[in-house]
Amino acid sequence: MVKRIAILGSTGSIGRNALRVIEALGDEYEVAVLTAHSNVKLLAEQVKKFKPKIAVVTNPEKFDEFKTLAGGGKTEILCGEKGLVTAAAAADVDIVIAAIVGAAGLEAILSAAKAGKTLAIANKEPLVIAGELLTKIARENNVKLLPVDSEHSAIFQAIQSGNPKEVNRIILTASGGPFRGATAEQIQNVTIEQALAHPTWNMGKKITIDSATMMNKALEVIEARWLFDVPVEKIEVLVHPESIVHSMVEFVDGSIIAQMSEPDMCLPIQYALTFPKRVKGITKHLRLERIGKLTFEKPDMEVFRALKIGYQVAQTGGTATAVFNAANEAAVKEFLEGKIKFVNIAELIERCLDKHKVKTNATLEDLLSADKWARNEVKECLKRKI
Ligand SMILES: NC(=O)c1ccc[n+]([C@@H]2O[C@H](COP(=O)([O-])OP(=O)(O)OC[C@H]3O[C@@H](n4cnc5c(N)ncnc54)[C@H](OP(=O)(O)O)[C@@H]3O)[C@@H](O)[C@H]2O)c1
Repeated sequence: MVKRIAILGSTGSIGRNALRVIEALGDEYEVAVLTAHSNVKLLAEQVKKFKPKIAVVTNPEKFDEFKTLAGGGKTEILCGEKGLVTAAAAADVDIVIAAIVGAAGLEAILSAAKAGKTLAIANKEPLVIAGELLTKIARENNVKLLPVDSEHSAIFQAIQSGNPKEVNRIILTASGGPFRGATAEQIQNVTIEQALAHPTWNMGKKITIDSATMMNKALEVIEARWLFDVPVEKIEVLVHPESIVHSMVEFVDGSIIAQMSEPDMCLPIQYALTFPKRVKGITKHLRLERIGKLTFEKPDMEVFRALKIGYQVAQTGGTATAVFNAANEAAVKEFLEGKIKFVNIAELIERCLDKHKVKTNATLEDLLSADKWARNEVKECLKRKI
């Protein structure tokens, strides 16, 4: 039977790779929904090529431009956050690939889960903000949560060689980013260009900065906690600069199962779509003799403070993770606009968390209000010069 796919964020790095994967998979997969925020030129090209049932433009200012560019095909065109939420739950969709960046994807993921869609999740921020809520809705609606993040795909694959109850430890690998091995002093004055120069992965700007601060790994610790229902104490991070071992699972008998491949997001995207089957894909096969050596080291959590804060926040839970994520999103935006220094990102996150009164048993409203508060608090901190 044909699988009908919605790609939320089809113009992004994950979205574009997902389209390459679907194209290569052939007739069993069909593109049903495509969405973008502002890149309406690319979205229009994608719509003309893949002819989805629905296309969504979330930025209302770009709606008219998109209509003109898309021409008069049969694709239904929706607008704004409301259109995104509707499209994520559309009747003609089997699998939703969540590939929007940041908290902006939260309501659409919840909508897809409530509608019982299989969710292939790249967009980790909603799991960080509302992991408890999302996993609860998924359980209630019998929804499969399939990881697309390469580390979580690796864990998902490795965990299948045992029973989840037999897991002793999850070892999340991290490339270490462009500043691996740097001292606190050396990262004081790094530039935007240096922070965007990731050594192994080619990704969107926000996640690339998150990799440089190691915030990305902190978000992934929380993501893993919810996806695999393991306590945070059982999740460790190891820096592995070759980015060949995408993560590992240690079982109670001491066996460690690792998943390895070339660093190419097409593989985890494909596995989420074909699961539980494996098929030949477009990812180049790994030749270990060409890699030669695989190395691992402990991360320096004093230099990469976001990771240390992430562990604390993961333990606290409640609205703390929403503040953690939102403060980071706001700070990364300021950094990319050249308004703050690289090291200010972790500083701003800490300031917001220090000031926030955590609410446990948080509802969606609590989480959204914590998110809004943190974004505003970042602005206030900047007015006060942090
Ligand atoms: N890139 C990777 O290799 C990778 C690996 C693992 C996990 N992830 C995760 O996957 C997610 C996507 O990352 P990415 O690197 O693909 O990001 P990206 O290249 O920046 O693409 C983001 C996508 O989201 C859309 N978008 C941006 N703001 C939006 C808003 N306010 N409302 C609705 N849509 C919006 C963008 O539309 P426009 O293009 O129109 O702006 C684009 O389609 C992130 O959560 C990231 O952490 C990425």
